Amino acid sequence: MPTGRLSVVVTRRLPEAVETRMKELFDVKLRDDDTPMTRAELTEAVQQADVLVPTLSDDIGAGLIAQAGERLKLIANYGAGVDHIDVATARQRGILVSNTPGVLTDDTADMTMALILAVTRRIPEGLAMMQSDDWPGWSPTALLGGRVGGRRLGILGMGRIGQAVARRARAFGMQIHYHNRTRLRDEIEDELEATYWESLDQMVARMDVVSVNCPHTPSTFHLLNARRLKLMKPEAVLVNTSRGEVIDENALTRMLRAGEIAGAGLDVYERGRSINPRLRELKNVVLLPHMGSATREGRLEMGEKVIINIKTYQDGHRPPDQVLPSML
Ligand code: DGY
Repeated sequence: MPTGRLSVVVTRRLPEAVETRMKELFDVKLRDDDTPMTRAELTEAVQQADVLVPTLSDDIGAGLIAQAGERLKLIANYGAGVDHIDVATARQRGILVSNTPGVLTDDTADMTMALILAVTRRIPEGLAMMQSDDWPGWSPTALLGGRVGGRRLGILGMGRIGQAVARRARAFGMQIHYHNRTRLRDEIEDELEATYWESLDQMVARMDVVSVNCPHTPSTFHLLNARRLKLMKPEAVLVNTSRGEVIDENALTRMLRAGEIAGAGLDVYERGRSINPRLRELKNVVLLPHMGSATREGRLEMGEKVIINIKTYQDGHRPPDQVLPSML
């Protein structure tokens, strides 16, 4: 454990209040502009810092970790997902990894509902009509969507966020179904009135809406591949506020274009900002720029979590949000 103030490098601009608190507590190096660090800057950071605070826009893979200096002891991620960090390699090098779970749950679940509603009720089409001053006036047959109440929602990944989606969706009158690595305890299933499907194939084939809420890990990569997507009902809708890699984006795009799936609401993409250009052309698709957790409150709470993780480590304890390879 280093004595004195910890040297902390933060890779992206964070909310001002978080940066100010970090300056009070640590010998912190903050970013001047809000762009991701280059590979050279990241390498310098891991060679010099005691603690690195990256975000999902940084690739903290085995190659970078191999270049880390002796001092680097904690990677305190600003974010819940850690699929951009090679947690196993970090552990082998004796570097702890922590994240910020819990504080983005409600915001992400809200955005999931927003996407379900936006796609099923055709909100972007209505907005476009108003913005282009093209509204011919009310009509009994214009812009008809589908009612969400009574529809079957299949949640893929029933962790914190999946359960928060289930609570909201129930309030909208949806029927809750889920697939998860492990089945929920009876009392949670009862509270959510949720039906467990051991077989993902069988679940996706019967749902009106499928929501992706599982993390991206080697075992969830392309979990919704072309074969599984083809099992979906043609009138079904798919939403994803988790990670793009869980869905085969090209297969989804082809099916949306062919009308084999009714619509999609996506906040995340398989190749980051390089979105399949054909997706942008589709009317039955709502695309958002990975903003599921983007609330002022959430971003401050994420910063508080990062600070608690660093301070707990500084005090000689394990960070409360330590991520272990076995958890992935
Ligand atoms: C996370 O923290 O992993 C979220 O995806 C950020 O929105």
